[in-house]
Amino acid sequence: MTPSLEPHKINIAIDGHASTGKSTTAKELAKRLGYVYVDTGAMYRAMTLWALENGWIGPDFLDKEALIASLDRVDIRFRFNPATGKSETFLNGINVEDQIRRPGIADYVSRVAEIPEVRRKLVEIQQQIAREKGVIMDGRDIGTVVMPNAELKIFMTASPEIRAERRFRELREKGMDVDYEEILRNVRERDRIDSTRKASPLRKAGDARLLDNSQLSPQEQYDIIMNWVKEVLREKGGI
Ligand code: DC
Repeated sequence: MTPSLEPHKINIAIDGHASTGKSTTAKELAKRLGYVYVDTGAMYRAMTLWALENGWIGPDFLDKEALIASLDRVDIRFRFNPATGKSETFLNGINVEDQIRRPGIADYVSRVAEIPEVRRKLVEIQQQIAREKGVIMDGRDIGTVVMPNAELKIFMTASPEIRAERRFRELREKGMDVDYEEILRNVRERDRIDSTRKASPLRKAGDARLLDNSQLSPQEQYDIIMNWVKEVLREKGGI
């Protein structure tokens, strides 16, 4: 058999705490490497929007049974938008990319993401995408559950205060009227729920590389990760 001249592609799993810049990093890497980027948080957010639209979740209630019974009727997928050069999230055929980024979703998403039936459905879709190599996926359980065989696993973290500040600035730039203390509370609460839930809690895979970016500039962080990518690609004969 003739050896393939295609460069060897790897899968990259990026996990970590909320607002650590996972998606910005993953998108940059995907662009640089020509890989497919999958934002799994967007899928949990879309599921949360579905629950909200149907009135199954509120400040003090969650109708898990109704949500679980509806799972066969939920279609969540990504479509590449050539006009923006970005992949956008669709819920049952409707573009919900902007809606799922609103703080109203962040308030409820952890509670939806802790339902095992929801996770099972979304993990199945994610694993199907990962079958083709050349995928960069970010989330909470990518290195541990979704792509346990990913060639490169990265676990990103930063202090809660720094993450809240970054989120605060980001939302303000989008013209939203937000409160820093409230964002900090939300970051802490999400950490707590994400790390202590029974179904696939957020934890670093044993073979993941830890990246605390509290004191790193975006460029410094990018350089560290790119060096890891090159190292793994060299090992795999990809470059
Ligand atoms: O990364 P994000 O903030 O968009 O994620 C939204 C929520 O979804 C977050 O509270 C944790 C959850 N999530 C998860 O449980 N598993 C994933 N693979 C991705 C996100």
